[in-house]
Amino acid sequence: MIDQLAEHEASAIAAIDGAETLDGLAEAKTASLGKSAPLTIVQRQLGSLPAEERKEAGKALNEVRRRVEARLDARTAELAEAERAARLVAERLDLTEVPTDVAVGHAHVVTQAWEELEDVFVGMGFRIAEGPEAETDWHNFDALNIPPGHPARDGFDTIYVDHGPPGSTLLRTHTSPVQIRTMLDEDPPIHIVAPGRVFRRDTPDATHTPVFHQLEGLVVDHDISLADLAGTIEAFTESYFGAGFHSRLRPNYFPFTEPSAEFDIQQPDGTWLELGGCGMVHPNVLRAGGIDPEEWTAFAFGFGIDRLAAMKFAIDDLRELFTNDVRFLSQF
Ligand code: PHE
Repeated sequence: MIDQLAEHEASAIAAIDGAETLDGLAEAKTASLGKSAPLTIVQRQLGSLPAEERKEAGKALNEVRRRVEARLDARTAELAEAERAARLVAERLDLTEVPTDVAVGHAHVVTQAWEELEDVFVGMGFRIAEGPEAETDWHNFDALNIPPGHPARDGFDTIYVDHGPPGSTLLRTHTSPVQIRTMLDEDPPIHIVAPGRVFRRDTPDATHTPVFHQLEGLVVDHDISLADLAGTIEAFTESYFGAGFHSRLRPNYFPFTEPSAEFDIQQPDGTWLELGGCGMVHPNVLRAGGIDPEEWTAFAFGFGIDRLAAMKFAIDDLRELFTNDVRFLSQF
């Protein structure tokens, strides 16, 4: 009987080791320890042995069963691990794979200019400020020294919004109301630039679009002079356009600055291009912003981002910036 046990053990172990999958192993388990397995049959026969022999054979059988079970456990763990590893390999996704036949987009040329301008001004010590696109007529006009009935209001071709009393809400015609909001929110000294979208009732042509973008600058500090304004614009011009580009101020009129100027950029070929407006902030505007004009002085400037981008990239029709033709946009 002991010899028989050794044989059954050997064939059980061989079946277990030979199983290549967990399913196969389940079959090997039934075959070596199940109801009709040779070891189980031997166990049933123990009862018919003489007492002395039965004890010895029972002990041997238990040891065999323990070894077979241990081998079964070990093989189960081995196969489970192998199957897990195989599944991981089969289900792996290679996320580093970049399709080469897909066109990858990039920021719009105006967004590129906007972000580059922010970088330039932040590098000069300015912070970025924001204001709403739908404004009150007070922030857009009155607070900027343009009272109701002032002829300058007509020049802005305002788009009014049907909200509140007629004429009280509009789409901002320039970024200058952000000057007022910033002054009301913060104590001086203030050094901000405010890029944003502005709106005017204009018929689109090569140099006008009803929606465009401006960048406003405001500095409120002690003893600020026109020389600080001119120096800031010159530093910005060189930093944004590059060495060889210069700026100049020409007298002009804005209700919210006094004195006021237009500023132009000179390209290396010597030609001048008009870019924006600027000036020393009018005392009435400082007062509307809650700032004492006896203690603080300020300059402000504002220019069109779209025009600047058009100038930098030699785009001759501003409408191209809004038609979103990918063939056009992909050039920049
Ligand atoms: N807001 C003016 C415009 O839109 C530009 C400007 C800004 C002029 C700040 C002077 C000072 O034309």
